[in-house]
Amino acid sequence: MSTQTATLSTNALAQDFLPLQGTDYVEFYVGNAKQAAHFYKTAFGFQSLAYAGPETGVKDRASYAVRQNKLTFVFTTPLRSGNEIADHIYKHGDGVKMLALRVDDARDAWHQTTSRGGTSYLEPTVLTDAEGEVIISGIHTYGDTVHLFIERKNYNGVFMPGYRKWDSHYNPPSTGLLYVDHCVGNVGWNQMNKWVNFYEEVMGFRNILSFDDKDISTEYSALMSKVMSNGNGFVKFPINEPAEGKKKSQVEEYLEFYDGEGCQHVALATNDIVATVTELQERGVEFLKVPTTYYDDLLDRVGHIDEDLAPLRELGILVDRDDEGYLLQIFTKPVEDRPTLFFEIIQRKGAKSFGKGNFKALFEAIEREQSARGNL
Ligand code: FE2
Repeated sequence: MSTQTATLSTNALAQDFLPLQGTDYVEFYVGNAKQAAHFYKTAFGFQSLAYAGPETGVKDRASYAVRQNKLTFVFTTPLRSGNEIADHIYKHGDGVKMLALRVDDARDAWHQTTSRGGTSYLEPTVLTDAEGEVIISGIHTYGDTVHLFIERKNYNGVFMPGYRKWDSHYNPPSTGLLYVDHCVGNVGWNQMNKWVNFYEEVMGFRNILSFDDKDISTEYSALMSKVMSNGNGFVKFPINEPAEGKKKSQVEEYLEFYDGEGCQHVALATNDIVATVTELQERGVEFLKVPTTYYDDLLDRVGHIDEDLAPLRELGILVDRDDEGYLLQIFTKPVEDRPTLFFEIIQRKGAKSFGKGNFKALFEAIEREQSARGNL
């Protein structure tokens, strides 16, 4: 028995050929990075961190990095038309381009993944300034989305070479958002297993949870989902695929308006979801609302929770329980005019799952919005 356990853990170690320390940053390609950064500071409570652009020697784009606890977002806009960034925005609208992952060795991460079939986006590249060096590399994932590998152990600067510190007199306080809990990708019909295989074979992830169309269907529309996790669980990428229903799946609506596969939502963790969501709502962030009847039998469904029910009902925060504990979650409406990217706010109290018990109420709320857009 002990021999077998030892063998298993040795294998598990041997198989983690891509050790990840977590999400380094999320980079969005947007039509107006200056205004996007202002929105995420004002509405979500990020602080100014760093800026890159013509004034720092970067001629083709402007990038604003903002930070809140362990969360770093970068907003990048092109300064001219006819380039990869401009084409990305023309096709997809504002959206997630880079899911950048922190590694100890960006050269090895690139060699490990490309030798297993990953398509290179960026060969290992050393960026240097007076503060040291950052090594970055990258591979393509679904759609036009990219995973960058960021090695910054020999860097002391504020963000990356090419950036300068961004000091601002405008510093709205934090809303208590802490780190990226997970990032969900929407992929096309019959593509989910292709991307599950990609995360397993190219990146060494495991499929830790699966939902079929019976778990995630309403009267009208359906989807399927598989959750992929890296070895230490710091990085989790659920993959959604549309499924046949009476009407158009919310994943199909996304694929149509994003014009392809891409990141559907980024889940942001908090230790106090009532305080965080109260603050976000006051600052104008719009959330999906479930009917108040959701709360009538909530405690019968999930058992005892530490929180008072009244603020959860008032704010529209959802609760679900699994074998290990419970979680609280809420979803924003899309944060741009295309019905594409949105955010989830999540507080985990032991639960490691994703709110399966809320899918039906949640998707009915999404469908009410979808119907209001004429896309159901
Ligand atoms: Fe989620």
